[in-house]
Amino acid sequence: MSDTVYLNGDYLPLADAKVSVLDRGFLFGDGVYEVIPAYAGRLFRLNDHISRLNNSLRGIRIELEKSAEDWEAIFRPLLDGSKDQYIYLQITRGAAAKRDHGFPEQVVPTVFVMSADIKPFPGRDTGIKALTLEDTRWQLCNVKAITLLANLLLRQEALDQDCAEAILVRNGYVTEGAASNVFVVIDGDLITPPRNNEILPGITRDVILELAEANQIPCREDVIALEALQNASEIWVTSSTREILPVVEVDGNAVGSGKPGPLFRNVDQLLQAYKQSLA
Ligand code: PDD
Repeated sequence: MSDTVYLNGDYLPLADAKVSVLDRGFLFGDGVYEVIPAYAGRLFRLNDHISRLNNSLRGIRIELEKSAEDWEAIFRPLLDGSKDQYIYLQITRGAAAKRDHGFPEQVVPTVFVMSADIKPFPGRDTGIKALTLEDTRWQLCNVKAITLLANLLLRQEALDQDCAEAILVRNGYVTEGAASNVFVVIDGDLITPPRNNEILPGITRDVILELAEANQIPCREDVIALEALQNASEIWVTSSTREILPVVEVDGNAVGSGKPGPLFRNVDQLLQAYKQSLA
């Protein structure tokens, strides 16, 4: 993690960055966030991340709109062109004079940004284990809210069972991972659950759908029943910090051959080439 962070207009050492205990992010989890990769100093799909941020802000009724250029100017001093990093951006409703559930009339949002290194995830080459769990989250999963307690409990339950991710299931259908989107391969088709309020519209997910389409890989957005997941020949989880991770075991059973599958290798190569092409 870089030692310098941005807080409400200032760049300062991490240890000096302080917010009020009355900040609604601290008291209520009343805020939203973004995680934006920067490969060798170049922000990846910045416009898409900012557009999702604006949807999240609108979703929780925080009025703060900056252009992608304004955000980039804020992020720039935190980036180091010699490595791969991600920007963590958090906006809360701000600190009110007293604790009250209703929105304060006069409040200035708190804006916090930090950067951290992206390190290749250990399971990338070998694949990871995943656990299916009931999706216990709320109904606005399309908002990238900092209120992540359900996600944390689900991820920890997976970790406690030696799994790297929880794959969430609502009413018998797969939604997404605790901090990722889910893809499956069934009869050679690449399938991911449709965009709705039950999932975060992942930027990595969009990129993969675009790459598959451009390379004539049969792909579609469709519902995935739990039984279909259990019979898939490949399962992947995707996110900005982990890219594509192949799942080789789900609920203790091997997925396909029990090794990262051929379509994963193919699409992962396309993703790496696409990242290179932007450099
Ligand atoms: N999370 N779904 C959830 C619930 C997530 O938390 C994330 C990413 C994704 C993938 O979105 P994207 O491809 O845009 O990163 C899907 C980030 C990385 C995090 O919370 O750290």
